[in-house]
Amino acid sequence: MKELTPQQIQENWEKLRSLINETFAGKRLDDLNKMYDYFEERMMLAPASGKEHFHNAHPGGYVEHVLHITDLVVQIYDLWGRNGATIDNFDKEELIFAALHHDLGKVGDLSEDYYTPNDSDWHRKNQGLIYKHNSNLKYMTVTDRALWLLQHFGVPMTENEYLGLKLTDGMYEEANKSYYVSYSKDRQLKTNIAYILHQADMMASKIENDQWARGDHDIKAPKVELKEKSEQSAAANQAFKDLFGE
Ligand SMILES: [Fe+2]
Repeated sequence: MKELTPQQIQENWEKLRSLINETFAGKRLDDLNKMYDYFEERMMLAPASGKEHFHNAHPGGYVEHVLHITDLVVQIYDLWGRNGATIDNFDKEELIFAALHHDLGKVGDLSEDYYTPNDSDWHRKNQGLIYKHNSNLKYMTVTDRALWLLQHFGVPMTENEYLGLKLTDGMYEEANKSYYVSYSKDRQLKTNIAYILHQADMMASKIENDQWARGDHDIKAPKVELKEKSEQSAAANQAFKDLFGE
């Protein structure tokens, strides 16, 4: 089983909080910090999935996955831009906001975790079912709960952020079909933000699954190369340089 040491869990948490503080500003930052303070203990230890053969089904797996997708989404954004895609009708702050919160619903509701440890040794050992879904929660998709939690803490978002966050799971989420499969020109997605987020999420999850399959233990923080795209995204760029190096 892939595991993080308590020190790695703590470092990842600090990395996440610094990234938030350096990317956002004003009242939105204050409200985000209130939400992250509220969830600190639970979020730091949350897994990213319940099954070991999915991805990051270990304590600290959620934060690790969020850092992972946020790192990849910036690389993929630059790759799309270098290859001629239109990437100037949304900005990096929007991209990072959606990446950071696309799986927020996996933390649970205001009082209970989404994943609880599986008490059946047999299922853990033979089927890799490390966590169970908490049956005390009202049913919501992970994405719906993410959006609900953000509104609960008064965190506003742009239309691009809303669409990006909502569509990060791509066509794996059936409810997203009408956004991705459009038969009329007017209904086509008007920016590439959702495609880039989905690509980054798929890549992060697959790499995490590979790390588990290989039994990797020494997981290094990802390295990111950034190019300044606009003044608006300079703070986000700087945050990445500070966190992941040049
Ligand atoms: Fe994800």
